[in-house]
Amino acid sequence: MIKKTTYGYTVEKDNVFLDVVFYSDSIVRFSYSEENKLPDSTIAVIAKPMKMDVELKGHSIKTKDLQIKINENSLTVEIYDIEGNLINKDKKVDLNNIQVSKELLDEKAFYGMGEKYGWINKIGTDTVNWNSDVLGNSPIHTGTVKEYHTSIPFYIGLSQNLAYGIYFDNTYRTYFDFGKKVEDTIDFRAEDGRIDYFFIYGPQLSKVVRGYSDITGSMPLPRKDFLGYQQCRWSYENRDELMTVAKKMREENIPCDILYLDIDYMKDYKVFTVDSEKFKEFKEMNDILKGMGYKLVVIIDPGVKKEEGYNVYDEGVEKDYFVKDSNGKIYIGEVWPGDSAFPDYLREEVRNWWGELHRELIDYGVDGIWNDMNEPANFCTEAKTIPENTIHMDDKGQSRTHKEIHNIYAMLEAQGTYEGLKKISPNKRPFVLTRAAFAGTQRYAALWTGDNSSIWEHLESSMAMFMNLGLSGYSFIGGDVGGFTHDSNGELLTRWTQLGAFTPLFRNHSAKGTINQEPWCFGDETLDITKKYIKLRYNFITYLYNLMKDSSDKGDPVLRPLFYHYQNDENTYNISDQFMFGENIMICPITRPKTNHRMIYLPEGKWYDYWTQEVIQGGKFIIKKAELDTLPIYIKASSIIPMDKITNYIGEEDNSLEIHYYYGEKGKYNLYLDDGLSFDYKNGKYTEIKFEIEPVDEYLTISGEVIHEGYDIPNIKIVIHGFVKGNKVTIEGDKLNFDKEKRVRLNINK
Ligand code: GLC
Repeated sequence: MIKKTTYGYTVEKDNVFLDVVFYSDSIVRFSYSEENKLPDSTIAVIAKPMKMDVELKGHSIKTKDLQIKINENSLTVEIYDIEGNLINKDKKVDLNNIQVSKELLDEKAFYGMGEKYGWINKIGTDTVNWNSDVLGNSPIHTGTVKEYHTSIPFYIGLSQNLAYGIYFDNTYRTYFDFGKKVEDTIDFRAEDGRIDYFFIYGPQLSKVVRGYSDITGSMPLPRKDFLGYQQCRWSYENRDELMTVAKKMREENIPCDILYLDIDYMKDYKVFTVDSEKFKEFKEMNDILKGMGYKLVVIIDPGVKKEEGYNVYDEGVEKDYFVKDSNGKIYIGEVWPGDSAFPDYLREEVRNWWGELHRELIDYGVDGIWNDMNEPANFCTEAKTIPENTIHMDDKGQSRTHKEIHNIYAMLEAQGTYEGLKKISPNKRPFVLTRAAFAGTQRYAALWTGDNSSIWEHLESSMAMFMNLGLSGYSFIGGDVGGFTHDSNGELLTRWTQLGAFTPLFRNHSAKGTINQEPWCFGDETLDITKKYIKLRYNFITYLYNLMKDSSDKGDPVLRPLFYHYQNDENTYNISDQFMFGENIMICPITRPKTNHRMIYLPEGKWYDYWTQEVIQGGKFIIKKAELDTLPIYIKASSIIPMDKITNYIGEEDNSLEIHYYYGEKGKYNLYLDDGLSFDYKNGKYTEIKFEIEPVDEYLTISGEVIHEGYDIPNIKIVIHGFVKGNKVTIEGDKLNFDKEKRVRLNINK
């Protein structure tokens, strides 16, 4: 019998309960358990079930968007849209093996699953989720490695006219098969725990992605200056080395906002210490850097050196804050400092302690924290992590095995760090960068894709990884520009910087023992071109910041695949080597050596070649010539795009802004502005201007309506592309008076 519950329905069969729970008309949770009450979700889930107006007829539950048929014997489900089209169908629910098998219906592609190597479409492949120090397991990431630094058990199925998503809310090791083992079957399975998953219906793919972010949360709006160029190295070993890089950037006129210190800034790799020999007068150094416009990020790993007399270790022991082995003793593994204990972030008290430990670093002037090795990595076991039978203690005093906690360990650390930083500086948006993650970690940290190599294959494969991360709720992402392990070279760094300039996190980083790869390391040509693209990045900061705002409000990825906007165009389904930077800009990097051309797919509509201003009719493949200094960029006609003046760092000068319109049809753009740093925007201190530009005969009607004014409005210039035979037309700000009533009608053809 199907029975009504507060948020849906429940069915029981042989002491197993299937709870069907509604979160909206298009988001439904299917939770199997042996208890006659709705089990808790994992920490990934922030959404709350809703009391919905649903109707039960026989075995069928109906919402405004979906019909769900339940088989009371097998506890399987079939999901239909409101017109009765089948969207999703269980083949089998295997409670013993914690496995759901679904029929592969019309799906042409599967996406999501966070950070995974390979092409964008995962059909015909399988994968495993178990956070891993990939380099520890394999010298170079390849398709044969399935366990990456992050675990996001979420996939999207796409057939021509509809998309749906499934988020499997289980933190244990999970396995997914998209028609590899059996052609017409999708399987997902966990090593332990329960079957508990969310079904999210589109039919638009973007609606699925937003739905996923309703469930697991979205990124908080980051600081604007962290969208600038970031320079890192394992390691800038001492104050002189770091200051040399800082000065050289300014001398060479390379915009740069963020510098990093890797593990060697610490004393004996002890977290929360600074080696005062190597980094003399650390606070003074930070003051100098700040004066030059830099923000410093330092690395903090979870491993705490086992050393009596070291306050972090002593306190952790005394307060019982470390993960235990199966005999109840503190588990000691091995990381950079040698023998190390691992904080048990599962408990709020431990997270608070950890967060508070950052106070001194912040007082020293540090502006962001980089969480690495947080799978957690461990050098002394074959699995390269801490044993699955080590013990965590939860807030209720109940022990939980590492097997269950492993995949969320990094997320808990990131949470502790983020919340700690917020407590220390309540009105500054924290910056935390993490390597490992689980579904929902976007609420606390930006993510970089870990240890790639300086090889062309990793440049190319990073795009699909970024796009799938974007579809999996992660917007603030990037990879090590230039490649981490192995020696980079000028050509590779150049092409990598071109791509990196259009990733939300834009950080050049390289490993110890490899050749240095700052922009000036490979001669003048490399310097000139990398500089050109770092500068280009600074033109798009406000545009990117606006995308970040949208993403934090709605969950749309910043870096997104073409099918995000062209779902009906099957040509886009397998494009792994082009991406959209928001809705208006398409980036088509060159990712092969000695290559001066490539094929590009332009979806329907008119496109502007960013460099030549040539207008090309889309709906076709083209060959584009692109010598080393050219990254092919296309702007969609009718787009309105804000462009910043290039400065050495963000906020160096009072901003003036250009608003570029690419002649076409009516263009619309909502420009969002705030201080880029504090939480004041939450109290109305932001400005929003709604731009509309529309060609009417030989005129353009331009309007800029200030719909909210809580922050300074910059001096705005309007630049029109393509209206007068390929020439740009600029309209100076004083002709435009942006208030609520005025519309400006300008005959710009004369
Ligand atoms: C890990 C990180 C890398 C860092 C190194 C030393 O390999 O992924 O980015 O440089 O550790 O801390």
